[in-house]
Amino acid sequence: HAWARYKFVVKETPYTRLCSTKPILTVNGQFPGPTLYVNQGETIIVDVYNQAKDNITIHWHGVDQPKYPWTDGPEFITQCPIRPGGKFSQKIIFSTQEGTLWWHAHSDWSRATVHGAIVVYPKNGTSYPFPKPYAEVPIILGEWWKQDIMQLLDTFLKTGGDPNTSDAYTINGQPGDLYPCSKSDTFKLMVDHGKTYLLRMINAAMSDILFFSIANHQLTVVGTDASYTKPFKTDYITISPGQTMDVLLEANQPLGQYYMAARVFSSSNLVAYDNTTTTAIVHYNGNYTSPSPPPSFPQNLPYYNDTNASSTYARGLRSLDSPDHPINVPLNMSTKLIFTISVNAIPCANDSCAGPNGTRLSASMNNISFVNPSIDILQAYYNHINGVYEDQFPNFPPLIFNFTADYLPLELETPQKGTEVKVLEYNSTVELVFQGTNLVAGTEHPMHLHGYSFYVVGWGSGNFDKDKDPLGYNLVDPPLQNTIAVPRNGWAAIRFKADNPGVWLMHCHLERHLSWGMDMAFIVKNGKNPEEKLLPPPPDMPSCY
Ligand code: C2O
Ligand code: CU
Repeated sequence: HAWARYKFVVKETPYTRLCSTKPILTVNGQFPGPTLYVNQGETIIVDVYNQAKDNITIHWHGVDQPKYPWTDGPEFITQCPIRPGGKFSQKIIFSTQEGTLWWHAHSDWSRATVHGAIVVYPKNGTSYPFPKPYAEVPIILGEWWKQDIMQLLDTFLKTGGDPNTSDAYTINGQPGDLYPCSKSDTFKLMVDHGKTYLLRMINAAMSDILFFSIANHQLTVVGTDASYTKPFKTDYITISPGQTMDVLLEANQPLGQYYMAARVFSSSNLVAYDNTTTTAIVHYNGNYTSPSPPPSFPQNLPYYNDTNASSTYARGLRSLDSPDHPINVPLNMSTKLIFTISVNAIPCANDSCAGPNGTRLSASMNNISFVNPSIDILQAYYNHINGVYEDQFPNFPPLIFNFTADYLPLELETPQKGTEVKVLEYNSTVELVFQGTNLVAGTEHPMHLHGYSFYVVGWGSGNFDKDKDPLGYNLVDPPLQNTIAVPRNGWAAIRFKADNPGVWLMHCHLERHLSWGMDMAFIVKNGKNPEEKLLPPPPDMPSCY
């Protein structure tokens, strides 16, 4: 096969933002990193060279990788890290997704600067289920710290408290007009009057769900997580870390410059966040004089705590469900799971921790706080190496109680640590309900599953009621996603068919929660037929020793 091939050189490159310069980890010296282009159903190879001083892995977020988790990327789940000086040729296998995905580092906190867009065009010979846009542009939302990311991570791990909030949010790597020393580099989207643009939106931020909107312009959402949606018009979007949104922008306003802006959505009053706003500019081509900065700020950008705005937006996301893009929601469930997702405060050994009352913060699913093994789970599973992980991940929370009450059982403050996986039979139909609890600090959790897209059939606030809530499920046109923001102290139900054998990580896409242990892995067993089995590893898997 002559697959398209890309070269990724991971290395440090100096970048200047917010009046100061620091070396950051980049791919090919670019921040954000290079965009990958493929057609639906294609396979590409990315040769990843680690020329940095720390270990690295790269993950292809939202790509199914059918039967081939080997190059999926999460460290110690499907591979050991690529060491400095090392190289790993990663095969990326696209199946049914079409739209926007992205890639990012999946080791330490390197993804803060090591990330980029993946554009998945329609299959050769087919076209978009909407009029072809005049042009397309990735819009990547991110965060910038003045501090070195490795140092940030170090302090975070040592103190056991929340990490420092970032110093700026960014649009395509730029903080924008409202931040110091940033005005002249503000990202500009040049548009022709009368044309339609496809914005491929990605939230690559480490810690926050974001609202985004453009002054005087409506947006039409046509896809999320590389799956088409029924087009819907909106004044703003809500996008959580890990998610992508395909959005049409019609340049139909008087010639001029218009702000686009993004800021945090957070309903939690306990978690500190950066309350600043990042901006970029939509600039109409033509002869006119326009005031600088642009006159109007997006009027419809929701406020930080606008839970209503966030849920209204989420309700708008419906699968397209057309003859070319049919939906296939599993209806008879063979496996029903409920996973609690919690942030916990655990006793601190050295008495100097920055969590509440001198504790150390931790996070868990079903009261188990995940610990990375020292060799990857996939290798251990494939080669029958004992003692790396256990398969006792509970089917059901340890206790039945009121998850969102003010006072919760103390034993839940202290999750067990463990490297537990959940084994799924091949082709089982899985319904998984995430139940957020209010331990320590309730917040939204953007839960992400590797190797699959899932239908989001329902969500709501408070405790999931297994008798009543399923009656309200959307089984007609639920959105197909790889990341779902579970409402604060609420629940979300997803469905998928376990037809992709291998080892697949599931985790909260807030980086601090992942580091605190809000992750687990599924092992999906092989099917009986040869074409239903995990493929063998490539010869150049990074070694664990
Ligand atoms: Cu966006 Cu586990 O990744
Ligand atoms: Cu979380």
